[in-house]
Amino acid sequence: MSIDTVIPSRPRSAANRIRSAELQREEHRRSDRAALHEYASTIGLAALVRRAGTPLFVLDPARVAGEFERFTELLPFVRLRYALAALPHPAVIRTVASCGGGFDAVSTGELAMLAHEQIPASDAVFSHPIKRADDIATAAAAGVRLFVADNPAEVRKFAGVHPELRLLLRLRRVADAAHFGIDSEHALNLARFATSLGVGVAGFSVHVDASEPDAPAALSTMVHEALRLIDEGNARWGLGLDTIDLGGGMPTDHEGGEAGADAMTAVVRSILAPRVPGLSVLAVLGRCIAAPAMLLATSVVGQATRDGEVWHYLDDGMHGSFAGLRGSGEVPTMFSLSEVERAGSDAREPLYPCTLVGASTDGIDVIARGIPLPPLGVNDVLLCPDMGAYSLVMASNFEAVHRTRVHVLRPSRAQGKRTVNV
Ligand SMILES: Cc1ncc(COP(=O)(O)O)c(C=O)c1O
Repeated sequence: MSIDTVIPSRPRSAANRIRSAELQREEHRRSDRAALHEYASTIGLAALVRRAGTPLFVLDPARVAGEFERFTELLPFVRLRYALAALPHPAVIRTVASCGGGFDAVSTGELAMLAHEQIPASDAVFSHPIKRADDIATAAAAGVRLFVADNPAEVRKFAGVHPELRLLLRLRRVADAAHFGIDSEHALNLARFATSLGVGVAGFSVHVDASEPDAPAALSTMVHEALRLIDEGNARWGLGLDTIDLGGGMPTDHEGGEAGADAMTAVVRSILAPRVPGLSVLAVLGRCIAAPAMLLATSVVGQATRDGEVWHYLDDGMHGSFAGLRGSGEVPTMFSLSEVERAGSDAREPLYPCTLVGASTDGIDVIARGIPLPPLGVNDVLLCPDMGAYSLVMASNFEAVHRTRVHVLRPSRAQGKRTVNV
Protein backbone atom coordinates (compact mmCIF):
# COMPACT_ATOMS: atom_id res chain seq x y z
CA MET A 1 0.00 0.00 0.00
CA SER A 2 1.50 3.35 -0.90
CA ILE A 3 1.78 6.02 1.76
CA ASP A 4 -0.72 8.07 -0.21
CA THR A 5 -3.40 5.51 0.48
CA VAL A 6 -2.93 5.40 4.29
CA ILE A 7 -2.43 9.11 4.97
CA PRO A 8 -5.55 10.97 3.93
CA SER A 9 -4.63 14.02 1.96
CA ARG A 10 -6.10 17.30 3.08
CA PRO A 11 -9.41 17.82 1.30
CA ARG A 12 -8.88 20.12 -1.63
CA SER A 13 -11.45 22.61 -0.36
CA ALA A 14 -9.68 22.88 3.05
CA ALA A 15 -6.27 23.29 1.36
CA ASN A 16 -7.73 25.97 -0.88
CA ARG A 17 -9.25 27.76 2.10
CA ILE A 18 -5.91 27.80 3.96
CA ARG A 19 -4.07 29.01 0.86
CA SER A 20 -6.65 31.72 0.30
CA ALA A 21 -6.41 32.84 3.96
CA GLU A 22 -2.62 33.06 3.55
CA LEU A 23 -3.01 35.08 0.37
CA GLN A 24 -5.47 37.37 2.10
CA ARG A 25 -3.05 37.89 4.99
CA GLU A 26 -0.22 38.64 2.54
CA GLU A 27 -2.44 41.02 0.60
CA HIS A 28 -3.48 42.71 3.83
CA ARG A 29 0.14 43.07 4.92
CA ARG A 30 1.08 44.56 1.53
CA SER A 31 -1.69 47.15 1.68
CA ASP A 32 -0.85 48.03 5.33
CA ARG A 33 2.79 48.40 4.30
CA ALA A 34 1.84 50.69 1.40
CA ALA A 35 -0.27 52.84 3.76
CA LEU A 36 2.62 53.00 6.24
CA HIS A 37 4.99 53.96 3.41
CA GLU A 38 2.71 56.87 2.53
CA TYR A 39 2.34 57.94 6.15
CA ALA A 40 6.05 57.55 6.93
CA SER A 41 7.01 59.81 4.04
CA THR A 42 4.40 62.41 5.08
CA ILE A 43 5.87 62.72 8.58
CA GLY A 44 9.55 62.16 7.67
CA LEU A 45 9.64 59.06 9.85
CA ALA A 46 12.92 57.51 8.67
CA ALA A 47 14.90 60.71 9.35
CA LEU A 48 13.18 61.14 12.70
CA VAL A 49 13.99 57.60 13.83
CA ARG A 50 17.60 57.90 12.67
CA ARG A 51 17.95 61.21 14.51
CA ALA A 52 16.15 60.26 17.74
CA GLY A 53 17.16 56.57 17.98
CA THR A 54 15.08 53.71 19.30
CA PRO A 55 13.02 52.54 21.06
CA LEU A 56 10.76 55.45 20.21
CA PHE A 57 7.04 56.13 20.15
CA VAL A 58 5.89 58.64 17.56
CA LEU A 59 2.67 60.30 18.72
CA ASP A 60 0.54 62.01 16.10
CA PRO A 61 -2.11 64.43 17.47
CA ALA A 62 -3.69 64.66 13.99
CA ARG A 63 -4.54 60.97 14.18
CA VAL A 64 -6.23 61.52 17.54
CA ALA A 65 -8.28 64.35 16.08
CA GLY A 66 -9.07 62.34 12.93
CA GLU A 67 -10.36 59.33 14.87
CA PHE A 68 -12.32 61.52 17.26
CA GLU A 69 -13.99 63.27 14.34
CA ARG A 70 -14.74 59.91 12.67
CA PHE A 71 -16.67 58.76 15.75
CA THR A 72 -18.36 62.16 16.11
CA GLU A 73 -19.74 61.67 12.60
CA LEU A 74 -20.78 58.08 13.31
CA LEU A 75 -22.46 58.99 16.62
CA PRO A 76 -23.60 62.61 16.20
CA PHE A 77 -26.02 62.58 19.16
CA VAL A 78 -23.62 60.86 21.60
CA ARG A 79 -21.48 62.70 24.15
CA LEU A 80 -18.08 61.07 23.55
CA ARG A 81 -15.43 60.85 26.21
CA TYR A 82 -11.89 59.54 26.01
CA ALA A 83 -10.72 56.68 28.28
CA LEU A 84 -7.57 58.11 29.84
CA ALA A 85 -6.52 54.58 30.83
CA ALA A 86 -5.58 53.81 27.21
CA LEU A 87 -2.96 56.56 26.84
CA PRO A 88 -3.05 59.52 29.25
CA HIS A 89 -0.48 61.58 27.36
CA PRO A 90 -0.87 65.39 27.63
CA ALA A 91 -0.85 65.78 23.82
CA VAL A 92 -3.75 63.32 23.52
CA ILE A 93 -5.66 64.97 26.37
CA ARG A 94 -5.28 68.43 24.82
CA THR A 95 -6.28 67.18 21.38
CA VAL A 96 -9.41 65.43 22.65
CA ALA A 97 -10.36 68.56 24.61
CA SER A 98 -9.84 70.71 21.52
CA CYS A 99 -12.18 68.37 19.60
CA GLY A 100 -14.86 68.94 22.26
CA GLY A 101 -14.53 65.50 23.88
CA GLY A 102 -15.06 64.65 27.52
CA PHE A 103 -13.02 62.20 29.60
CA ASP A 104 -13.43 58.88 31.34
CA ALA A 105 -11.33 58.56 34.49
CA VAL A 106 -10.86 55.50 36.68
CA SER A 107 -8.55 56.99 39.32
CA THR A 108 -7.86 60.29 41.05
CA GLY A 109 -4.44 60.20 39.37
CA GLU A 110 -6.17 60.46 35.98
CA LEU A 111 -8.28 63.35 37.29
CA ALA A 112 -5.06 65.08 38.36
CA MET A 113 -3.78 64.74 34.78
CA LEU A 114 -6.87 66.61 33.55
CA ALA A 115 -6.36 69.30 36.19
CA HIS A 116 -2.76 69.65 35.02
CA GLU A 117 -4.08 70.47 31.53
CA GLN A 118 -6.63 72.92 33.04
CA ILE A 119 -9.51 70.73 31.94
CA PRO A 120 -12.48 70.97 34.32
CA ALA A 121 -13.33 67.76 36.17
CA SER A 122 -16.98 68.38 35.30
CA ASP A 123 -16.01 67.13 31.79
CA ALA A 124 -15.18 63.72 33.28
CA VAL A 125 -17.07 60.65 34.45
CA PHE A 126 -15.40 58.64 37.23
CA SER A 127 -16.22 55.21 35.87
CA HIS A 128 -14.45 52.68 38.09
CA PRO A 129 -17.33 50.78 39.70
CA ILE A 130 -15.33 50.31 42.94
CA LYS A 131 -13.69 53.33 44.58
CA ARG A 132 -12.30 54.36 47.96
CA ALA A 133 -14.57 56.82 49.81
CA ASP A 134 -11.60 59.23 49.88
CA ASP A 135 -11.34 59.10 46.10
CA ILE A 136 -15.06 59.81 45.71
CA ALA A 137 -14.71 62.85 48.00
CA THR A 138 -11.61 64.08 46.11
CA ALA A 139 -13.33 63.66 42.73
CA ALA A 140 -16.54 65.34 43.90
CA ALA A 141 -14.56 68.26 45.39
CA ALA A 142 -12.74 68.62 42.05
CA GLY A 143 -16.11 68.89 40.26
CA VAL A 144 -16.93 65.37 39.00
CA ARG A 145 -20.70 64.90 39.06
CA LEU A 146 -21.20 61.55 37.33
CA PHE A 147 -19.90 58.28 38.83
CA VAL A 148 -20.40 54.59 38.05
CA ALA A 149 -21.43 52.10 40.75
CA ASP A 150 -22.75 48.55 40.68
CA ASN A 151 -23.57 47.39 44.22
CA PRO A 152 -25.18 48.61 47.47
CA ALA A 153 -21.90 48.91 49.43
CA GLU A 154 -20.56 51.25 46.74
CA VAL A 155 -23.80 53.25 46.50
CA ARG A 156 -23.72 53.84 50.30
CA LYS A 157 -20.37 55.65 49.91
CA PHE A 158 -22.13 58.43 47.95
CA ALA A 159 -24.71 59.34 50.60
CA GLY A 160 -24.35 63.02 51.52
CA VAL A 161 -21.27 63.59 49.33
CA HIS A 162 -22.76 66.25 47.00
CA PRO A 163 -26.38 67.11 46.17
CA GLU A 164 -25.78 67.28 42.38
CA LEU A 165 -23.88 64.03 42.16
CA ARG A 166 -25.53 61.26 40.06
CA LEU A 167 -24.80 57.62 39.46
CA LEU A 168 -24.73 55.42 36.40
CA LEU A 169 -25.44 51.85 37.44
CA ARG A 170 -23.28 49.39 35.49
CA LEU A 171 -25.24 46.42 34.15
CA ARG A 172 -23.64 43.00 34.23
CA ARG A 173 -23.36 40.68 31.27
CA VAL A 174 -22.61 36.99 31.35
CA ALA A 175 -19.59 37.68 29.11
CA ASP A 176 -18.14 40.02 31.77
CA ALA A 177 -17.77 36.96 34.05
CA ALA A 178 -18.26 38.32 37.57
CA HIS A 179 -15.93 41.26 37.30
CA PHE A 180 -18.28 44.26 37.29
CA GLY A 181 -21.95 45.04 36.95
CA ILE A 182 -25.26 44.29 38.63
CA ASP A 183 -27.65 41.69 37.20
CA SER A 184 -30.47 43.54 35.49
CA GLU A 185 -33.19 41.96 37.66
CA HIS A 186 -31.66 43.75 40.67
CA ALA A 187 -30.74 47.01 38.90
CA LEU A 188 -33.96 48.90 39.66
CA ASN A 189 -33.81 47.89 43.32
CA LEU A 190 -30.29 49.34 43.43
CA ALA A 191 -31.57 52.55 41.80
CA ARG A 192 -34.38 52.80 44.39
CA PHE A 193 -31.89 52.13 47.19
CA ALA A 194 -29.70 55.00 45.93
CA THR A 195 -32.60 57.44 45.74
CA SER A 196 -33.71 56.37 49.27
CA LEU A 197 -30.26 57.60 50.43
CA GLY A 198 -30.71 60.89 48.58
CA VAL A 199 -28.24 59.87 45.84
CA GLY A 200 -29.45 60.66 42.31
CA VAL A 201 -29.36 58.00 39.61
CA ALA A 202 -28.87 59.18 36.02
CA GLY A 203 -29.32 55.81 34.32
CA PHE A 204 -27.39 52.72 33.31
CA SER A 205 -24.03 51.91 31.87
CA VAL A 206 -23.08 48.95 29.67
CA HIS A 207 -19.85 47.76 28.08
CA VAL A 208 -19.48 45.41 25.10
CA ASP A 209 -16.10 44.88 23.46
CA ALA A 210 -16.18 44.80 19.66
CA SER A 211 -13.66 41.94 19.71
CA GLU A 212 -16.18 39.61 21.39
CA PRO A 213 -18.15 37.16 19.26
CA ASP A 214 -21.41 38.69 17.94
CA ALA A 215 -20.54 42.05 19.49
CA PRO A 216 -23.15 44.12 17.59
CA ALA A 217 -25.91 41.71 18.71
CA ALA A 218 -24.60 41.77 22.30
CA LEU A 219 -24.53 45.58 22.24
CA SER A 220 -28.07 45.67 20.90
CA THR A 221 -29.28 43.35 23.70
CA MET A 222 -27.62 45.46 26.40
CA VAL A 223 -28.89 48.77 25.01
CA HIS A 224 -32.45 47.41 24.80
CA GLU A 225 -32.13 46.12 28.37
CA ALA A 226 -30.90 49.49 29.64
CA LEU A 227 -33.77 51.26 27.86
CA ARG A 228 -36.30 48.82 29.31
CA LEU A 229 -34.97 49.51 32.82
CA ILE A 230 -35.06 53.28 32.25
CA ASP A 231 -38.66 53.14 31.04
CA GLU A 232 -39.78 50.82 33.85
CA GLY A 233 -37.95 52.80 36.56
CA ASN A 234 -39.55 56.06 35.38
CA ALA A 235 -43.04 54.62 34.84
CA ARG A 236 -43.29 52.68 38.13
CA TRP A 237 -41.25 54.76 40.53
CA GLY A 238 -40.63 58.11 38.84
CA LEU A 239 -36.87 57.70 39.19
CA GLY A 240 -36.09 60.42 36.62
CA LEU A 241 -33.67 58.17 34.70
CA ASP A 242 -32.46 59.97 31.57
CA THR A 243 -28.99 58.66 30.64
CA ILE A 244 -27.49 55.61 29.00
CA ASP A 245 -23.73 55.14 28.92
CA LEU A 246 -22.49 52.75 26.24
CA GLY A 247 -19.09 52.27 27.90
CA GLY A 248 -16.07 51.49 25.71
CA GLY A 249 -15.00 48.67 23.43
CA MET A 250 -15.35 50.49 20.09
CA PRO A 251 -12.97 48.94 17.53
CA THR A 252 -9.94 50.54 15.95
CA ASP A 253 -9.99 51.44 12.28
CA HIS A 254 -8.27 48.18 11.25
CA GLU A 255 -10.67 45.97 13.25
CA GLY A 256 -13.16 45.91 10.41
CA GLY A 257 -15.70 43.31 9.43
CA GLU A 258 -18.89 42.39 11.20
CA ALA A 259 -17.93 44.10 14.45
CA GLY A 260 -16.22 47.13 12.88
CA ALA A 261 -17.06 50.68 13.93
CA ASP A 262 -19.77 50.95 11.25
CA ALA A 263 -21.62 47.89 12.54
CA MET A 264 -21.27 48.82 16.23
CA THR A 265 -22.36 52.42 15.74
CA ALA A 266 -25.22 51.41 13.41
CA VAL A 267 -26.69 49.47 16.35
CA VAL A 268 -26.47 52.56 18.56
CA ARG A 269 -27.99 54.85 15.93
CA SER A 270 -30.88 52.56 15.09
CA ILE A 271 -31.94 51.97 18.70
CA LEU A 272 -31.12 55.25 20.39
CA ALA A 273 -31.49 58.03 17.78
CA PRO A 274 -35.32 57.92 18.04
CA ARG A 275 -35.05 58.45 21.84
CA VAL A 276 -32.94 61.61 21.61
CA PRO A 277 -33.25 64.38 22.94
CA GLY A 278 -35.37 62.83 25.72
CA LEU A 279 -32.44 60.60 26.51
CA SER A 280 -28.82 61.58 27.05
CA VAL A 281 -26.38 59.10 25.47
CA LEU A 282 -22.72 58.80 26.51
CA ALA A 283 -19.94 56.59 25.15
CA VAL A 284 -16.27 55.99 25.88
CA LEU A 285 -13.54 55.83 23.23
CA GLY A 286 -10.32 54.23 24.43
CA ARG A 287 -8.21 52.05 22.18
CA CYS A 288 -9.90 53.24 18.97
CA ILE A 289 -8.42 56.71 19.63
CA ALA A 290 -5.20 55.71 21.40
CA ALA A 291 -4.03 52.83 19.17
CA PRO A 292 -3.58 54.79 15.91
CA ALA A 293 -2.16 57.75 17.86
CA MET A 294 1.25 56.12 18.31
CA LEU A 295 3.66 54.10 16.19
CA LEU A 296 6.56 52.26 17.83
CA ALA A 297 10.05 52.06 16.34
CA THR A 298 12.29 49.41 17.89
CA SER A 299 15.68 48.05 16.77
CA VAL A 300 17.26 44.64 16.50
CA VAL A 301 20.11 44.61 19.04
CA GLY A 302 21.15 40.97 18.76
CA GLN A 303 20.49 37.80 16.79
CA ALA A 304 20.81 34.04 17.22
CA THR A 305 19.59 30.90 15.46
CA ARG A 306 17.79 28.53 17.82
CA ASP A 307 16.14 25.27 16.73
CA GLY A 308 16.49 26.36 13.12
CA GLU A 309 14.63 29.67 13.54
CA VAL A 310 16.19 33.12 13.62
CA TRP A 311 15.66 34.97 16.89
CA HIS A 312 15.87 38.76 16.82
CA TYR A 313 16.46 40.47 20.18
CA LEU A 314 14.86 43.94 20.29
CA ASP A 315 15.42 47.04 22.40
CA ASP A 316 11.77 46.98 23.58
CA GLY A 317 9.69 44.06 24.81
CA MET A 318 7.00 42.45 26.94
CA HIS A 319 8.13 44.33 30.06
CA GLY A 320 8.14 47.54 28.02
CA SER A 321 5.89 48.77 25.24
CA PHE A 322 4.47 45.33 24.39
CA ALA A 323 3.33 44.69 27.98
CA GLY A 324 -0.33 45.12 26.99
CA LEU A 325 -0.09 42.04 24.77
CA ARG A 326 0.74 39.73 27.70
CA GLY A 327 -1.69 36.84 27.83
CA SER A 328 -3.71 38.14 24.86
CA GLY A 329 -2.15 35.86 22.22
CA GLU A 330 -2.11 38.86 19.90
CA VAL A 331 0.78 39.33 17.51
CA PRO A 332 1.71 42.94 16.73
CA THR A 333 1.79 44.11 13.13
CA MET A 334 5.42 44.75 12.19
CA PHE A 335 7.42 45.95 9.23
CA SER A 336 11.09 46.68 8.80
CA LEU A 337 11.82 50.35 8.23
CA SER A 338 13.72 49.51 5.06
CA GLU A 339 10.87 47.48 3.54
CA VAL A 340 8.51 50.37 4.33
CA GLU A 341 10.91 52.78 2.62
CA ARG A 342 11.00 50.48 -0.43
CA ALA A 343 7.25 49.78 -0.41
CA GLY A 344 6.56 52.47 -2.99
CA SER A 345 8.25 50.26 -5.60
CA ASP A 346 5.52 47.61 -5.04
CA ALA A 347 8.18 44.96 -4.58
CA ARG A 348 6.98 41.52 -3.44
CA GLU A 349 9.68 40.66 -0.94
CA PRO A 350 10.17 37.21 0.54
CA LEU A 351 9.31 36.97 4.23
CA TYR A 352 10.74 34.48 6.71
CA PRO A 353 9.20 33.32 10.00
CA CYS A 354 11.23 34.49 12.98
CA THR A 355 11.03 34.89 16.74
CA LEU A 356 11.08 38.35 18.31
CA VAL A 357 12.43 38.61 21.84
CA GLY A 358 12.29 41.62 24.18
CA ALA A 359 14.89 43.64 26.01
CA SER A 360 15.01 41.72 29.31
CA THR A 361 16.54 38.43 30.44
CA ASP A 362 13.13 37.11 31.51
CA GLY A 363 12.05 33.93 29.73
CA ILE A 364 8.53 35.29 29.21
CA ASP A 365 9.90 38.19 27.18
CA VAL A 366 8.95 36.67 23.83
CA ILE A 367 6.96 39.12 21.71
CA ALA A 368 6.07 36.82 18.80
CA ARG A 369 6.98 33.45 17.34
CA GLY A 370 6.87 32.61 13.65
CA ILE A 371 6.16 36.19 12.64
CA PRO A 372 6.88 36.71 8.91
CA LEU A 373 9.48 39.44 8.33
CA PRO A 374 12.05 40.27 5.66
CA PRO A 375 15.69 39.39 6.44
CA LEU A 376 16.95 41.62 9.28
CA GLY A 377 20.39 42.51 10.62
CA VAL A 378 21.60 43.99 13.89
CA ASN A 379 20.59 47.70 14.12
CA ASP A 380 17.72 47.27 11.65
CA VAL A 381 14.60 49.13 12.75
CA LEU A 382 11.14 47.58 13.03
CA LEU A 383 7.98 49.70 12.86
CA CYS A 384 4.79 48.73 14.70
CA PRO A 385 1.83 50.94 13.78
CA ASP A 386 -1.27 51.31 15.97
CA MET A 387 0.69 50.76 19.19
CA GLY A 388 -0.69 53.62 21.29
CA ALA A 389 -3.32 51.82 23.35
CA TYR A 390 -2.50 50.10 26.64
CA SER A 391 1.19 49.98 25.70
CA LEU A 392 3.21 52.78 27.30
CA VAL A 393 0.85 52.80 30.30
CA MET A 394 1.44 49.09 30.93
CA ALA A 395 5.26 49.25 30.60
CA SER A 396 7.50 48.79 33.64
CA ASN A 397 11.14 49.67 34.13
CA PHE A 398 12.04 46.07 34.95
CA GLU A 399 15.83 45.54 35.08
CA ALA A 400 16.19 49.35 35.17
CA VAL A 401 15.32 49.66 31.48
CA HIS A 402 13.68 53.04 30.85
CA ARG A 403 10.17 53.26 29.43
CA THR A 404 10.18 54.15 25.75
CA ARG A 405 10.37 57.87 24.96
CA VAL A 406 7.54 59.62 23.13
CA HIS A 407 8.17 62.04 20.29
CA VAL A 408 5.10 64.21 19.65
CA LEU A 409 4.68 65.31 16.04
CA ARG A 410 3.90 68.93 15.47
CA PRO A 411 0.36 69.21 14.09
CA SER A 412 1.57 71.01 10.95
CA ARG A 413 3.86 68.09 10.06
CA ALA A 414 1.35 65.40 10.92
CA GLN A 415 -0.84 63.64 8.44
CA GLY A 416 -3.94 65.46 7.33
CA LYS A 417 -4.55 69.16 7.13
CA ARG A 418 -6.31 69.66 10.45
CA THR A 419 -5.10 72.33 12.82
CA VAL A 420 -4.83 71.08 16.36
CA ASN A 421 -3.66 73.19 19.26
CA VAL A 422 -1.37 71.10 21.39
C1 LIG B 1 -16.36 50.11 31.28
C2 LIG B 1 -15.27 50.42 30.32
N1 LIG B 1 -15.32 51.57 29.64
C3 LIG B 1 -14.35 51.90 28.76
C4 LIG B 1 -13.28 51.07 28.52
C5 LIG B 1 -12.28 51.47 27.48
O1 LIG B 1 -12.40 50.53 26.47
P1 LIG B 1 -11.69 50.63 25.05
O2 LIG B 1 -10.27 50.96 25.26
O3 LIG B 1 -11.86 49.26 24.48
O4 LIG B 1 -12.43 51.66 24.27
C6 LIG B 1 -13.18 49.85 29.19
C7 LIG B 1 -12.05 48.94 28.94
O5 LIG B 1 -12.02 47.81 29.35
C8 LIG B 1 -14.20 49.51 30.13
O6 LIG B 1 -14.18 48.34 30.79
